[in-house]
Amino acid sequence: MIHFTDHGTGIPIVWIHGFPLSGRIFDRQLAIRGARHIVPDLPGFGASPAKGSASMESYAREVLALIDHLQIERAVFAGFSMGGYILLELARQARQRFLGAILIDTREVGDTEEGRAGRETMIANVRKSGVSAAIDAMLPKMLAGEHQPDEPLVRQIMEQSTEEGVIAALQAMKDRPDSTSTLRGLAVPLLIVVGDSDPITPPADAKRMGALAQRSRIVEIPDAAHLSNLQRAEEFNAAVERFLNEQVAGSLQS
Ligand code: MLT
Repeated sequence: MIHFTDHGTGIPIVWIHGFPLSGRIFDRQLAIRGARHIVPDLPGFGASPAKGSASMESYAREVLALIDHLQIERAVFAGFSMGGYILLELARQARQRFLGAILIDTREVGDTEEGRAGRETMIANVRKSGVSAAIDAMLPKMLAGEHQPDEPLVRQIMEQSTEEGVIAALQAMKDRPDSTSTLRGLAVPLLIVVGDSDPITPPADAKRMGALAQRSRIVEIPDAAHLSNLQRAEEFNAAVERFLNEQVAGSLQS
């Protein structure tokens, strides 16, 4: 079983982290009330050991095995960036397990040719120089503003990633399928959150996803880059609490 934490009581939310990060990026979301927060570390990240090669399917299976282990029938799944790619794979594998979905600074489409070439370059750089090659490429895109009090924290989280896990995730992201039709068919309450200055998955991605989805609400967080949930936790958490109260709890009663 992958490493996970389990805090609080209420509507279960499974928080799926991005690359090259860990469940610790969601520490500030534990303050969200009325929820049980289940926070896994994917293989090779945080406190979970690497397991060789990976795919969106294998990550989704790990998450499903975890909620089976916890005997949670249905949950809200929240995916940040790569976690959003995994969430959409979960929607393919186990749509019946969804109470709702939160897509955070992510996108539904696969990599472009250029994006795939960039993954290959990063894999080569990590093989040559270790995880620091991925950290140097990703860290500057995570937080907005010149003076970033959270930068040492994000660096520390990234430094826990293993070389094997980072390479497996890059390959898995490079090979991931397009999830446009999955998102279009995901008829559950959906919250889409994006930092207004996210350079990786900008607000245009969120707007496109919102137009595809059936029951979505988009929240753009001001003065936030990619890690909007960590950088602007107060605004982010308020949006999630509203979503849980108005959309998820409502649909549980109906
Ligand atoms: C992430 O934050 O998970 C990555 O930026 C996703 C990606 O590189 O596509």
